[in-house]
Amino acid sequence: MTDPRPTPLAPAGRGPATPLPRRMLVTGGSGFIGVNFIRLVLASEPEVKVLNFDALTYAGNPHAFADLPAEEQSRYQFVRGDIRERPDVLAAFTSFQPEAVVNFAAESHVDRSIDNPLAFVETNVLGTANLLHLAREFSQKGSPVHFHHVSTDEVYGSLGDSGSFREDSLYDPSSPYAASKAASDHLVQAWHRTYGLRTTLSNCSNNYGPWQFPEKLIPLVLGNAIAGKPIPVYGDGGNIRDWLHVEDHARAILTILRLGRPGACYNVGGRGELSNLNLVQRLCDILQELSPLPDRHYRDLITFVPDRPGHDRRYAIDPGRIETELGWKAGHSLDSGLRDTVLWYLSHQDWLRTIQQEVYDGRRLGGGSATPPRSPAAG
Ligand SMILES: NC(=O)c1ccc[n+]([C@@H]2O[C@H](COP(=O)([O-])OP(=O)(O)OC[C@H]3O[C@@H](n4cnc5c(N)ncnc54)[C@H](O)[C@@H]3O)[C@@H](O)[C@H]2O)c1
Repeated sequence: MTDPRPTPLAPAGRGPATPLPRRMLVTGGSGFIGVNFIRLVLASEPEVKVLNFDALTYAGNPHAFADLPAEEQSRYQFVRGDIRERPDVLAAFTSFQPEAVVNFAAESHVDRSIDNPLAFVETNVLGTANLLHLAREFSQKGSPVHFHHVSTDEVYGSLGDSGSFREDSLYDPSSPYAASKAASDHLVQAWHRTYGLRTTLSNCSNNYGPWQFPEKLIPLVLGNAIAGKPIPVYGDGGNIRDWLHVEDHARAILTILRLGRPGACYNVGGRGELSNLNLVQRLCDILQELSPLPDRHYRDLITFVPDRPGHDRRYAIDPGRIETELGWKAGHSLDSGLRDTVLWYLSHQDWLRTIQQEVYDGRRLGGGSATPPRSPAAG
């Protein structure tokens, strides 16, 4: 019988892989990237146990692990907790004794950060500081903790028509979200330089794939298109993002956990630049092919809406360091990745509809007035 699990990762041409931390505390593991990361770890790394520590805000997926095979389920635990709360984090550290913390937990939507910036400072800045503080305490007591912080290319601000972000590009964040992530990155570097905590940091471009909350561009477009509703495109649609399949991001983090230099940061991207309008049109074309509208084209639903304040024009990542030093490379092409993603959302329409009905109805965010989101029921 063949083993259906992907083989453990070994970087190309770099000899046998170093062992991964066996006990990973993954914060924000019920969010979009966290779910994909944990599912990959459990499926491909049979030695690793995972504790998912997540507050289950509106963005959390409480049911994303319900279908795990029994063996993977036996290496997976969930704790509902808040990274801002020392007692919650302390209890998780004490009971689980992690060898690594992978910090995905964050408020992550730029438009919501325009409406409610303080929530972003509290979770992304103070929450990260709280985690770092406890990781240092545990490391000092003789249980060394590798702290990997998951961050974004948005910390670098906006590019002109040419060039790309490198690890030595200046931080120049535009939105409250990007500024809060920039602040958390600086804290991570400070805990390494000041206290010697073993840290690594990754700054990744825009991710796409399964389980993304439908406030973000791709699932919002697909959710609206499937429901026959207008597809909003900000401004002239000319803003450029650099798209990476979420599974490639998850593999990059595993590679960094295994091989990354303490204190180093790595830019992660797949050279997948696309304007927002071009992306939306491609999604419409894939939908039209897979699930055609009888009387018109999905492109007819595209509606231009006023731009986001402070909207960065262009992001592009230079992934040269992680490619040459660690041997990671993006595996998905944009063509096949987007097609697989459309297929996933087409086959998870109940999930999309439940969120649209119970959590977020797709209304425009980012006008600057506070709109507290609802939380999904925990389960
Ligand atoms: N989505 C992207 O394209 C992208 C790109 C680069 C980096 N990132 C970074 O990756 C990380 C994950 O992004 P995502 O898209 O999966 O976000 P997401 O919003 O889908 O998920 C965030 C998760 O964090 C949890 N959370 C929020 N506040 C918490 C708190 N106080 N305590 C514990 N858990 C909390 C939520 O319940 C949710 O499950 C973020 O740090 C984000 O900045 C995202």
